[in-house]
Amino acid sequence: MIITCEKCRTKYKIADDLLGKPELKVRCHKCSHRFIVYRAAHAEDSFLLQDEVHPDYSRVIAISNQKGGVAKTTTTLNLGAALAKMGKRVLLIDFDVQANLTILLGFRKTRSFYEVLTGGVKNIGEAVVKTKYANLSLLPSSSKMALLKKKYLSQHNFEYLLRDKLRTIQDSYDHVLIDTPPSIEFFTLNALVAANMVIVPSTCEYLSMHGVSQIHDIINVLKKSINQEVECKVLITMYDERNTSEKVICDKLRQTYRDNLFRTVIGKDDKMQESHIVNAPISHYAEKSSASLQYMQLAQEIVG
Ligand SMILES: Nc1ncnc2c1ncn2[C@@H]1O[C@H](COP(=O)(O)OP(=O)(O)OP(=O)(O)O)[C@@H](O)[C@H]1O
Ligand SMILES: [Mg+2]
Repeated sequence: MIITCEKCRTKYKIADDLLGKPELKVRCHKCSHRFIVYRAAHAEDSFLLQDEVHPDYSRVIAISNQKGGVAKTTTTLNLGAALAKMGKRVLLIDFDVQANLTILLGFRKTRSFYEVLTGGVKNIGEAVVKTKYANLSLLPSSSKMALLKKKYLSQHNFEYLLRDKLRTIQDSYDHVLIDTPPSIEFFTLNALVAANMVIVPSTCEYLSMHGVSQIHDIINVLKKSINQEVECKVLITMYDERNTSEKVICDKLRQTYRDNLFRTVIGKDDKMQESHIVNAPISHYAEKSSASLQYMQLAQEIVG
């Protein structure tokens, strides 16, 4: 039987024997919306079956907060590595001209989205490189990417460029994670439009909390217009539970965002800096460290 997600309209095939029960609770792989499917006799099913089945696109996650230094890049790298360790096929996209993600994975002077848009490569897949970690690929960034803003920002529909290019390779990955710069501009808007989930990392500092509410406002505007299916979840990062003011802000974030906050909290861990120095995800540098285990737990929360 074919069912359609009520929220994002993605279609799935499910085995008929699953519909032995009068109703079945399901969760959409693409947008995480939970809904109930009724067994075949239900009138709505004939409506659902009229539609063509489209491929089940991978989950595209943008990691974004316009506040700088809140662990966007660290989260992209380490969540991606944790998902890859679980056997998921992961594509990381470095969409920040600083190219920190590219550097942390040991790449320099590679092709990037600049070549994808300007014809330096035939397709986006040609610019993707395999990292030395199993299941983990990267679309690198380069300083040339800065030129794209000037060239395309005034172009009509510039915010769809990544989404449209990504669709040609999305089937090859279970998860696509996009690292964004600390500002809302060309790259961030493209990432937010391509994504079906936005992770907003936030430290427990007053100004970081404001960054969260600003990105929420932008996503709410997008939801009403361009990208109705996007889901937004806050991730507390670099948390130091011994610090009283951090505890206060953490409680405030929990009260404000409730279900839109990950249960997993990423604590401050000195091993993280060390892992950056050796250009490795923490799960490969210090597998048993607290931050490594927390990013593994976050990956499970996302997959589960
Ligand atoms: N769990 C952690 N424990 C300790 N240090 C961390 C942790 N996560 C990130 N850091 C450190 O915090 C700093 C900022 O991290 P990162 O570069 O990922 O932030 P960012 O949000 O991507 O920054 P930018 O806005 O400049 O892109 C880095 O030095 C990183 O090593
Ligand atoms: Mg960064």
